[in-house]
Amino acid sequence: MEVDRSEGIIRVLDPVTADKIAAGEVIERPMSVVKELIENALDAAATEITIELQEGGKRLVRVTDNGIGMSPSDAVLCLQRHATSKIKSADDLFSIRTLGFRGEALPSMASVSYTEIITRRPQDEFGTKVICAGGTIKEVHEVGAPPGTSVTVRDLFFNLPARKKFLRTAQTELGHITEVVNRFAISHPEVDTTLMHNDRVIFRCPKTDRLTDVVLTVFGRDAAEQSLHMSGSSGPYSIYGLVSKPTYTKANRSAQLFYVNRRFVRNRHFFHAIDEAYRGMLAQGRFPMVICFVDVDPRLVDVNVHPTKMEVKFAQEWEVHNLILSVIKEALASSPVAGGGRNIVAGVVGNIERPNFAVSAPTTGSRRPARTDFEEFHAALAQKMRYGSETEISASAPEAVIIQTEQPGELSDILAEAQVLGQVRNTYIVLQCTQGILIIDQHVAHERIVYDELASVDRKVHVQRLAIPLTLDLPKREALVVEHKVEDLKALGFDIEPFGKDTFVIRSVPALIAGKNYEQVLRDLIEELTELTVSRRLLVHREALITATACKMAIKAGDRLSTEEMVKLVSDLRRTSNPYLCPHGRPIIVCLSNRDIDKMFGRT
Ligand SMILES: Nc1ncnc2c1ncn2[C@@H]1O[C@H](COP(=O)(O)OP(=O)(O)O)[C@@H](O)[C@H]1O
Ligand SMILES: [Mg+2]
Repeated sequence: MEVDRSEGIIRVLDPVTADKIAAGEVIERPMSVVKELIENALDAAATEITIELQEGGKRLVRVTDNGIGMSPSDAVLCLQRHATSKIKSADDLFSIRTLGFRGEALPSMASVSYTEIITRRPQDEFGTKVICAGGTIKEVHEVGAPPGTSVTVRDLFFNLPARKKFLRTAQTELGHITEVVNRFAISHPEVDTTLMHNDRVIFRCPKTDRLTDVVLTVFGRDAAEQSLHMSGSSGPYSIYGLVSKPTYTKANRSAQLFYVNRRFVRNRHFFHAIDEAYRGMLAQGRFPMVICFVDVDPRLVDVNVHPTKMEVKFAQEWEVHNLILSVIKEALASSPVAGGGRNIVAGVVGNIERPNFAVSAPTTGSRRPARTDFEEFHAALAQKMRYGSETEISASAPEAVIIQTEQPGELSDILAEAQVLGQVRNTYIVLQCTQGILIIDQHVAHERIVYDELASVDRKVHVQRLAIPLTLDLPKREALVVEHKVEDLKALGFDIEPFGKDTFVIRSVPALIAGKNYEQVLRDLIEELTELTVSRRLLVHREALITATACKMAIKAGDRLSTEEMVKLVSDLRRTSNPYLCPHGRPIIVCLSNRDIDKMFGRT
């Protein structure tokens, strides 16, 4: 069939359709240029994308792809507002499968920069070059060019000095761009992505079919090795992705990425579901990595709610929330460190081969070598996300390594048959079991037990009435906090009542600490609550209160325990929701498997 070589596919939307499009600022900074150009390249079915930048993109952004290219007429038409090949009518807005659809990005960036487009369709003999300054087309001519498209945007906002003033340093702009490039690398692992800054390659993500490979490149080895695969579906929604074990966390949400039909979006239900799923497993202010893809019929999701296309509305918001929640929980439950898993146990022994956490079925494909000059990339990212400088694992947690034992089994079964050998340094309980030797940190184990008791919904707190009520005089700022928390403290088993002028009477205490120095426990707890309240400038919510209480009530490192006490502790631990991690996210049990012990003695 003869192809009409001049014919294009771009149409200018009719005014009615154009009106229905959420209008607004598309180009805000170099990062927005990069984002829109990468989206265009992906919509053009590119498998290789190169992003070149000068001065954090302020001087130059060039995105080159090997996609379908444009006809000579389209190369000109694409610069008109509302000119797009992706939708034809308002109806199409309800079933968008492409990343772009407004026909606004190219004209917007062209009007505030010097823009040059070089493009060629594979079937054409010659390519087309279009040169445009501040929105006016200056030149169009035929050029020799490889198949695909290259768009160069120079001197962004050269004609809008007021806007240009708001651009930040090259380093900061580069930080924003690396974040965007990361997100695309994660959602499109099948695309070869290269990012260059001032003529140096600073990030390279070769194509792969494994999400873990990209995670390795983007977030590093720890993240990749501590990630778990998740997937599930409900009604029209299906989700898949990776979550980190609670032992891998970050100081912010920068590793929590949510995609709908492979479009990156922000969605508060997503964050809420994550927080719920990890509840009680993480230290305050730590955030796990969660990369979640939702696939759904495009008719059930509206992407036309915001100009940057970063927000979406689902037909059933809560169904999606609940699905994410249950799928993350399931993934965590399958992990030995994270919750009742199949394979015991977290170990802290150094030189153990680490298991391979392939997400998809193992392939013969290449293990991507992540060797480029990432320093600049990570420095830029660090600036943006305070990434790299932070400790990846919660400060107090040793690096937990998963050991696949020869005899996998449920941890609670293992604990049931394990035999207490004794206490070491009044801090650790040592047990033996068929699989090897278990070491339990008595404080965190007890913390978990107390936490579960206090946090359970249907709990009845066992309280002990004091024969002689205790009177507490508190410093002013502590008294103020306690006054606000009287009801919550009652719920935890402290019957506490204001007694005028910063004084309180306590008539009963939780039975758990009745025999101990409960006054000290309560004073410590109040002090901590006050600290939390003051440092966070808000009243501590129930979850944090329970975590703090559990910590204060728990037996301490250094407390001597009788054999009966140790046996009781182990059997109580068995029945908890998560015998692997304390509510702060520290490991409770480590295991030296028989195999490891034999190996250490050269008996293998
Ligand atoms: N890299 C590219 N390869 C092929 N065609 C492109 C490319 N970039 C843009 N186009 C064409 O130009 C049109 C306008 O692009 P744009 O202004 O970003 O709007 P939209 O992506 O919303 O359609 C697109 O619909 C597409 O047909
Ligand atoms: Mg576009």
